[in-house]
Amino acid sequence: MPRIASFRPATEAAAMTSNRLRPRRVEPRTSDELAAEWDRVAADRDQLIVEGRDLSYSYILIPALLQLSAKWLMPGHRILDAGCGTGKFASELARDHPECQIVGIDPSPSSIDIADHKRSGVANLQFRQQTVEGFATEVERQSFDLVIANMLLQNVSSLPSVLNACAQMLDANGAFVFAVPHPCFWPRYWKYEKAPWFRYDREIWIEAPFRTSLNPDNPVTTTHTHRPLYGYFNAFTAAGLVVEEITEPYPDEGIEGQYPIAWEFPRFLLGRCRPRCGIDR
Ligand SMILES: C[S@@+](CC[C@H](N)C(=O)[O-])C[C@H]1O[C@@H](n2cnc3c(N)ncnc32)[C@H](O)[C@@H]1O
Repeated sequence: MPRIASFRPATEAAAMTSNRLRPRRVEPRTSDELAAEWDRVAADRDQLIVEGRDLSYSYILIPALLQLSAKWLMPGHRILDAGCGTGKFASELARDHPECQIVGIDPSPSSIDIADHKRSGVANLQFRQQTVEGFATEVERQSFDLVIANMLLQNVSSLPSVLNACAQMLDANGAFVFAVPHPCFWPRYWKYEKAPWFRYDREIWIEAPFRTSLNPDNPVTTTHTHRPLYGYFNAFTAAGLVVEEITEPYPDEGIEGQYPIAWEFPRFLLGRCRPRCGIDR
């Protein structure tokens, strides 16, 4: 008679799966570990974006980043897409602003492979597999007029090092434009706000499935850091970056209906900082 000791009722199996997929607190990750995580999701992530299945990327983040960056998207300007992933945004910047020089960097080899294969060969666009911190040691100070960090700052091993590197690479008249999950509302959206391990006022590393609103069942995980609002703002100040504008965008009415979960609060916080050395002059 076959042994069925390992058999588990479907409901138990489902419960185990959903437990495994629930966000959980983890130890801080190194840059290499984070890059390996993004390697695992790179191809899926690229497909989601290209097929327009990441609604927030297409309809919330990119429009708001472009609006915050508008004054710096000028002929002759040098633009860094820091943590460019598979490079779609960088390649669109290069296409739409042929007189700007665009560099996209990311430490995830698979992400940069996709960027290189699908999006390189354009005169004003380069990709490099590198962290922001590493790249800052290779280029001259003040090498860029605009540094854009789309959903980067919550995914780095050291926020102060990354912000210092970005500030160092910025021209005195330049701008640093960022998007992060909204520290006040993302924990509620991801339903870990009431988890016993969560505290709003602490920096906490969280492993969670890499899902988007239209791709809710992805079992592959990535790690992000929750930090309170003051954690971000104090880190900007410590890096010599002065917050000039912030925005908490909502979807337009036509797009909102496409989200499976209604928008009850802002999910993202975006802003533009300027180097204090430029403002003090
Ligand atoms: C949430 S993804 C965002 C990717 C891209 N900006 C986008 O919107 O599709 C975060 C990215 O940050 C990259 N990353 C992690 N640590 C980094 C670092 N120290 N410097 C630059 N990029 C980093 C990861 O490899 C990953 O591709």
